[in-house]
Amino acid sequence: MSSTGIFGGTVLATPARGLKGEVRVPGDKSISHRSVFFGSIAEGTTEVTGFLEGEDNLSTIAAFRLMGVDITRDGGNVTVKGKGFEGLQEPYDIIDAGNSGTTTRLLVGLLSSLPFFSVITGDASLKKRPMKRVVEPLLRMGASIAGRKDASLLPLAITGRKLKGIRFESKIASAQLKSAILLAGLSAEGETVFVEPEKSRDHTERMLKLFGADLKVEGNAVSVRSTNHLTGCKIDVPGDISSAAFFMVGAALTGSSELLLRDVGLNPTRVGIIDILKKMGGSIETKALSVASGEPVGDLLVRSSRLKGADISGSELLPAIDEFPIICVAAAFAEGTTTIAGAGELRVKESDRIAVMAECLNAIGVRNEERPDGIVIEGTGGKPVKGGSVKSHGDHRIAMAMAMAALNSIDGIHIEGAESVDVSFPGFFSALGKVAVS
Ligand code: S3P
Repeated sequence: MSSTGIFGGTVLATPARGLKGEVRVPGDKSISHRSVFFGSIAEGTTEVTGFLEGEDNLSTIAAFRLMGVDITRDGGNVTVKGKGFEGLQEPYDIIDAGNSGTTTRLLVGLLSSLPFFSVITGDASLKKRPMKRVVEPLLRMGASIAGRKDASLLPLAITGRKLKGIRFESKIASAQLKSAILLAGLSAEGETVFVEPEKSRDHTERMLKLFGADLKVEGNAVSVRSTNHLTGCKIDVPGDISSAAFFMVGAALTGSSELLLRDVGLNPTRVGIIDILKKMGGSIETKALSVASGEPVGDLLVRSSRLKGADISGSELLPAIDEFPIICVAAAFAEGTTTIAGAGELRVKESDRIAVMAECLNAIGVRNEERPDGIVIEGTGGKPVKGGSVKSHGDHRIAMAMAMAALNSIDGIHIEGAESVDVSFPGFFSALGKVAVS
């Protein structure tokens, strides 16, 4: 057992000698969101298996139910009775996206193009996150959006209307932004083209094709036309590599680990953590490759290894954008220095992940230097840290990363705000307890 239960939101995550056995991580968060978005605006029924029952995805289901979509759920099996664009109804209440940036940004794009009024809000963290990046191009498409701080922060009030297609060259690579603009473009007049500086995760493009959308991808440009008619389909959601990443690092940094992670999504725009861990000397074998619902899937066999520090650039981090906290933990136990640069986006995630990871590493005695766009970490060379108390700041990925750091500690780590793991990985602590060898 590697951790005690969650009492008042605090967990004592405990040390372990290794991680052994098998883990099947829950479904991919990004793919689960999109299955409900596209299923709702399609004609006919969409059957989803392996849907992630995390709080973020439940916020997406609740939002579409408010718009009159019949969605039934039995664990990870979800049935969406699509209404088509025309069939969605004006929500009779404010949409609460909770902690979910993906729910919010994709909805802002879609709602801007639908003929009714809607308001979106979220929790304290989401109310701090930047919305201008989505609002600005939508205004150029003719959208009517009002909100706090000149519509740059939630709550946002949207008066939907017919939009016109644009060509938008984004300064940031963001799948949420790309998906918001493409969703708006699906019913806009003419063609909508989204170009990004580097390719962000492409689940939207892959899944829209399955739903029969007329979509073109050329390098980092994606275009859609309003001639689209989406048809419901079957979606098998693979395991989330961003959840598997915690176990990959946990296995790498403990002495005698051999852990098989089954049915993990291996989309090339998401596998940055495998490349980064291999660069740091990690031992990861990919097996049993297949394709499910247009997404590559496979098993990962991870063994203990002596990690060494590395320089990690923004381009290397993009396909591992959500893995920053756990990469910091890998760096904390590596031999030598790790420098992560070009990671400014991490300051506007569920928490300011650069500042929060610097604080957490300080709390457990790992030397580091916070930089505006990244962090420099002095690894212990595999030696355990003493332990201590850390705050997750309500950020699920910080809580899970620090639970893995506790595996290589002497006294364990008290994690405040550990209940946040339910956002993306309900059952995380019991999954860890099953494979941790004490
Ligand atoms: C996501 C895109 C990424 C990622 C987030 C999920 C998505 O955000 O960090 O967890 O599902 O589109 P950005 O688009 O802000 O990079």
